[in-house]
Amino acid sequence: MTTEMRPTADIIGRDDINDLEAIMSVVNSDVDEAIHAVHSTYDTIFTWDYEKGQRPKLDKLYEKAKTSQWNAQTDLPWETDVDQEAVVVANAIATGGLGQGADLSGTPLESWGDKEWIDFGVQSQNWTLSQFMHGEQGALVCTAKIVESVPWIDAKYYAATQVMDEARHVEVFAKYLDDKLSGHYPINAHLRMLLDDIIADSRWDMTYLGMQIMVEGLALAAFGFMHQMTTEPLLKQLLRYVMSDEARHVAFGVLSLQEYYAQLSHAELRERQEFAFEAAVRMRDRFLQQEVWDQMGIDPKSIVPVLLQVPERQMFQTMLFSKIVPNCKKLGLLDAADGWLRERFTELGVIAFEDWVDTGEEYGSLQAVGPEAAAS
Ligand SMILES: [Fe+2]
Ligand SMILES: [Fe+2]
Repeated sequence: MTTEMRPTADIIGRDDINDLEAIMSVVNSDVDEAIHAVHSTYDTIFTWDYEKGQRPKLDKLYEKAKTSQWNAQTDLPWETDVDQEAVVVANAIATGGLGQGADLSGTPLESWGDKEWIDFGVQSQNWTLSQFMHGEQGALVCTAKIVESVPWIDAKYYAATQVMDEARHVEVFAKYLDDKLSGHYPINAHLRMLLDDIIADSRWDMTYLGMQIMVEGLALAAFGFMHQMTTEPLLKQLLRYVMSDEARHVAFGVLSLQEYYAQLSHAELRERQEFAFEAAVRMRDRFLQQEVWDQMGIDPKSIVPVLLQVPERQMFQTMLFSKIVPNCKKLGLLDAADGWLRERFTELGVIAFEDWVDTGEEYGSLQAVGPEAAAS
């Protein structure tokens, strides 16, 4: 059976995945928007089959979630003083220096001194945590939707715990930004497009694929990276708490979709592959941090292509996919439909992660965070 080939431009809005002009032409033109509505039509599913534990792995995850709750207000050391500039400098020293490794001659950054680089580091941190916060709200609404749309009682129970987790995540990032950093950024246009697509899709498994596998898979890798790198104790602990929840969330996606995908047709799997590819591209695009350059008064087009050449930067971008690729493999998405997604992930330069550990059971090793474990 052959599947209708959809051209790349239909899926991601451009032919060449690396077309920087096209990527950077997508901007958030309504930064003062306070309410954002996304239309969605889907069936809200009741099940009259209340037998708990029919899906033992989901049931176990649900029981685990119930004993892993923490309180964003009281379990974190909010009294910690955060000197954001000092943190930026310390992080820069830990990672080998801001802007190092790039040939900046002929760019607007050629004349930058410490002050400009620190300023950039501050903006970059405000931006990064703002996008985390927006992404967390995406997770909050997606899991609320899963509670309604998934047909299995064990999944409804588990998803309900995740709704609470995500509320807490939005809460901690918002509080950290307000109390410890120096400004919010509006949602990045690429991230918003992705969240809109996930929410607008009427099929319950697409919510899982977009959110649990792609967005949360990337978040887990990004939080892990930042947790390792940061020298700021409050942020470190905050991320550790959030990661222990996120590992369960990604496991929820893998365990649920594994069962569902096993009975999908070739054509249906191909649609899932295209969705995974689109999500991967959107997430990669958002990491260009266009808005930070705008804030610094620099045209992103004049500097982004130069910085993309820095090997550390490329490595960081690829590492963000270290959870996504093995999870897609575990779900059978890499090689379904003649290996279409394998080819796309090869183009994106991330296929090497395919045999890394998947996240189906990884939450076991990250579970050590209840309030008592974090204190140790
Ligand atoms: Fe989250
Ligand atoms: Fe999550």
